[in-house]
Amino acid sequence: MFHLRPALPATDEPGIASVVNAFEQNPVSVETVREWLTHDAPGRISYRRVAVNKEDAVVGYAVSVHETWDPEGQFYAWAGVAPAWRGRGIGAALYSDMCEFLKHHNAGTVTSEVRDDCAVSQAFASRRGFEHDRHLFQSSLNLEHFDDSPYAQTIEDNAASGIRIHSLADFGDTPEARRKLYEVNAITDRDVPGWSRPGLSFEEFNEWVYESGWYRPDGQLLAADGDRWVGICAVRLYPEARQAFNVHTGVIRTYRRRRIALALKLAAIRYDRGKGVRSLSTHNDSMNGPMLALNRKLGYVPEPGRYTLRKTIK
Ligand SMILES: CC(C)(COP(=O)(O)OP(=O)(O)OC[C@H]1O[C@@H](n2cnc3c(N)ncnc32)[C@H](O)[C@@H]1OP(=O)(O)O)[C@@H](O)C(=O)NCCC(=O)NCCS
Repeated sequence: MFHLRPALPATDEPGIASVVNAFEQNPVSVETVREWLTHDAPGRISYRRVAVNKEDAVVGYAVSVHETWDPEGQFYAWAGVAPAWRGRGIGAALYSDMCEFLKHHNAGTVTSEVRDDCAVSQAFASRRGFEHDRHLFQSSLNLEHFDDSPYAQTIEDNAASGIRIHSLADFGDTPEARRKLYEVNAITDRDVPGWSRPGLSFEEFNEWVYESGWYRPDGQLLAADGDRWVGICAVRLYPEARQAFNVHTGVIRTYRRRRIALALKLAAIRYDRGKGVRSLSTHNDSMNGPMLALNRKLGYVPEPGRYTLRKTIK
């Protein structure tokens, strides 16, 4: 027996985290879920429901979100059920309830995602009209075994050609430096294959990065040609797990193929090691040949990932 109700802060966070973590490769903390339930970014349209059992414990969760930067009529939607409660119609009930929300907001396109190693979830989505879009997966580099000696020359070669690697902390983490980093991020983000949204405004970037709990100025690495910033490599630490995540790496077009991204990634590895990190992960996209090649060169090992999905509502 189960029923659906709105997700409630203060009671549902651990249950939602547990449902989501059966799907997520990077565990979501209870605090993160609390942020989801208590804080909506300006302009966001969101739906969050849970399925509960007769003890009112969360056994399923559905979320749908339209951010201000999403194309008009496009919503992200996801539903998950605790493994022990699958096969009882909970996912179908959450999905059809969410469809009412989507209909109410005139959704024309719905995006979602499924694990690439979960045939049941893929079949669930495909029966509901979702089609595979891209294959995204994570790959990891074991920093306990990583040998940087083959690349000893890279940073020196960069320096010889006038490119220096710094972190935002070297510039005092000032408002001007933050904006300058945002600009490199925005320019290179636009070149990520499959990138279709307009990109974050400075205010949105501020909220997602500089004001986030994980932000550290020394983890925002950048490549500078004199006063011009031409590359970025942002790292997020998970100190409890001794892991780190490479959020974004980008080099502006006219500076590519000069091993600047390689130098940035090596600097990020050095930074992570200095913080006691044992494993560094990153997202990979089947469409991003240059980044896949760079990660392969460094020895990243691919892990199970996800297919992004898309459905058009007529
Ligand atoms: C991916 C990206 C950061 C690479 O930057 P870069 O400075 O040109 O890369 P490097 O010169 O350091 O290349 C290092 C290695 O990566 C691989 N590589 C980089 N670009 C490549 C390309 N276009 N084709 C094939 N391999 C490539 C090669 O193995 C290269 O080693 P090599 O020089 O010995 O051949 C850059 O293309 C970019 O900014 N793309 C847009 C942003 C993006 O998609 N970022 C990833 C998602 S977060």
